[in-house]
Amino acid sequence: MTTTPPPWPGDPLPERELELAAADRAVDALCRTRPEGGLLVYSGAAGIGKTSVLARVRARAAERCTVRTTRADPGTTAIPFHTARALFAPDLADTDGLAALLGPHRALAGPALGLTTPGDEPADPQGVQDALVALTARAARRHRARPLVLVLDDAHWADGESLGWLAALGPRLARLPLLLVVAHRPTEHAAEESRPHLDALGTAARLRVTLRALSPEAAAGLTRRALGTGADDALGRALWDATGGSPYELAELLARLREHPLDPGADQATAVRELAATVRGHRLADRLG
Ligand SMILES: Nc1ncnc2c1ncn2[C@@H]1O[C@H](COP(=O)(O)OP(=O)(O)OP(=O)(O)O)[C@@H](O)[C@H]1O
Ligand SMILES: [Mg+2]
Repeated sequence: MTTTPPPWPGDPLPERELELAAADRAVDALCRTRPEGGLLVYSGAAGIGKTSVLARVRARAAERCTVRTTRADPGTTAIPFHTARALFAPDLADTDGLAALLGPHRALAGPALGLTTPGDEPADPQGVQDALVALTARAARRHRARPLVLVLDDAHWADGESLGWLAALGPRLARLPLLLVVAHRPTEHAAEESRPHLDALGTAARLRVTLRALSPEAAAGLTRRALGTGADDALGRALWDATGGSPYELAELLARLREHPLDPGADQATAVRELAATVRGHRLADRLG
């Protein structure tokens, strides 16, 4: 999604304290002497703030962990194991470590990761998935000094094979030094064959959160931060009424209002509603595009 830079300093992210505290706890557990892995799943509608939460989770985890991150997109949904390859890219580029990483699973995992050409016989999909799970466990153990955190954004667009691998990994994560963090839009946005995998990830998650819209108080706070302390609460309320607390729409409206303040004589509520309709129209056009 094209995002407008937020009109307020990056930290803290309003009304996401609990979600971020849960991620901090998961990173703490991962960094203990006896590491405990886990799975965090953030879901929510377009523009609700998933990528923003993941950006902060990544930044905090990077202080102590090895963070691998990728974002799926509709152009790669049909490419088997595209997401797995993207997450493993640094390992795949490390020619010295690669043989140890692949271990006995070279024949099955190699073609899936684009390292070797497939044999004449089609590979058993379950065998390939098991090989990738075993390889992931080995990768996690190799990173003990700075434990491994895999972050996948827009998982509703990830290819089904990679989602199958992550879903199979899910129930094992508590026993591995590996934290998996996933964000996705509600499952109805995903391809039919991916939905069971996203559901399985949700079931296996140590924390599964549906991100909520922002409150009127948060909208008022953002309005003051973006437009100055002189911005009145009525404007914050009008913005919340017009957007329902969608962070994306609030950010867009505030960016526009900073550039083109409302005419002092205008009826605030009506002007803000009209502006919100334009923002929504542009977003719909972008998405259809
Ligand atoms: N908690 C928040 N408080 C204020 N603004 C926020 C918050 N979360 C996100 N935003 C702003 O809302 C906009 C959309 O956020 P973001 O891109 O994270 O949404 P998303 O859920 O990832 O959307 P999509 O499903 O389209 O990828 C961004 O401009 C971001 O800065
Ligand atoms: Mg996003």
